[in-house]
Amino acid sequence: MDKVISLSKRRGFIFPGSEIYGGLANSWDYGPLGVELKNNIKKLWWKMFVQERFDMVGLDAALLMNPKVWEASTHLTTFNDPLVECKKCHTRYREDQKPDECPVCGGTVFTEAKQFNLMLKTFLGPAEEKANIAYLRPETAQAMFVDFKQIVESSSMRVPFGVAQIGKAFRNEITPGNFIFRLREFEQMEIEYFINPSDGWEKHFDIWLDQMRIWLDRVGIDRKKIHEVEISEEDRAFYSKRTIDIEFDYPFGQKELYGLAYRTDFDLSNHEKMSGKNMKYRDPITNEEYLPHVIEPTWGVDRTVLAVLLSCYTETEARSGKDDAVHETEVTLRLPKEIAPIKIAILPLSKKEELTGPAIEIRSMLSKHWMLEYHTSGSIGKRYRRQDEIGTPYCITVDFETANDKSVTVRDRDTMKQDRVKISELVNYFKENLNC
Ligand code: GAP
Repeated sequence: MDKVISLSKRRGFIFPGSEIYGGLANSWDYGPLGVELKNNIKKLWWKMFVQERFDMVGLDAALLMNPKVWEASTHLTTFNDPLVECKKCHTRYREDQKPDECPVCGGTVFTEAKQFNLMLKTFLGPAEEKANIAYLRPETAQAMFVDFKQIVESSSMRVPFGVAQIGKAFRNEITPGNFIFRLREFEQMEIEYFINPSDGWEKHFDIWLDQMRIWLDRVGIDRKKIHEVEISEEDRAFYSKRTIDIEFDYPFGQKELYGLAYRTDFDLSNHEKMSGKNMKYRDPITNEEYLPHVIEPTWGVDRTVLAVLLSCYTETEARSGKDDAVHETEVTLRLPKEIAPIKIAILPLSKKEELTGPAIEIRSMLSKHWMLEYHTSGSIGKRYRRQDEIGTPYCITVDFETANDKSVTVRDRDTMKQDRVKISELVNYFKENLNC
């Protein structure tokens, strides 16, 4: 974990937020490479689950919703974690993470657990009074239920179909930590898949579980570190009839990465009661009217980034010299090409105009299609290693032959294979090889 955190900070993937002011506990900023990685993950998810399917539509709802939403969803009453407090220094812990000895003061006596609501509260407008209370959403899911009828009426979607949303969620976690694993501000990618209750929810549940497995492979998460955990009735949310947690072997233990739940018609029926609006769906062909049931696959974006970094981080020992001793540990981030922050690095072998001229022209040509880096300083070996470390799939070297043969050398991060490619063929070459 320390190696991944150090690489993230050193190379600008993720660094502590507000650092010049001493930081803000457990807030993290995605730097220039991190934002590319995160955006590529979100783009891949949208492509796979919205663009390439014909039974899905997207939504981008407001973060702030009418507080009645959170009453109907029961978040205001049930979205709690049990909290205990050290009796000596009053440091608070989640009950399931209570230490034997308080790491702050060494105290060993803790209070009885009490329920702590995780909703983050704010006020809208100038007066901080009860009527103006609003909550930052704790999940993206609810908007997809609240907007269900508008989506049906404004689109041609017919059940079964799903709504997908990517966006920020906020939870006043008692003990955030483990880098970007447990945050107070994080992003989710969620799907609410609406089905006819007589259509057999088990079938849809299995299909979505399979889709989640395919996703793991597409995004480069090590399947050997994945566990599908069936959540027992007493442990799962009361509204769920079946939940599977997709857990990952993080360096700090096996913990949740994603979830899949059968939420029945709990949400639509509660919103129907609370709003007084008819939330039922009328099938345009059969005329059958019913409250759809819902299968909900949910993915955390930040946990995806963490699991991807942990899965793709590899070290190799570079040996050299007479004794063939290990002189350096080389890091390669074996990211799937689709999510790599930088797709191609352009590395002229010398700073001479003869080489930088064509290199800059190549940069202009390729930057219309892909994110690039361009570097002229340092030995070519060092420059390759810096690109391997950030997961760049291809490096182009412009050399002294380039002016004559109008070609460059393209090096593949994973195979180390080098191809001589005509400059005029580069776009086609990368379209074929990057496939994105
Ligand atoms: N709509 C269902 C829902 O929100 P959840 O299991 O509470 O379910 C879904 O959250 C996903 O969001 C989790 O599987 C995890 O990936 C991510 N997540 C939840 N809490 C988080 C936190 N405090 N920090 C980072 N990611 C979190």
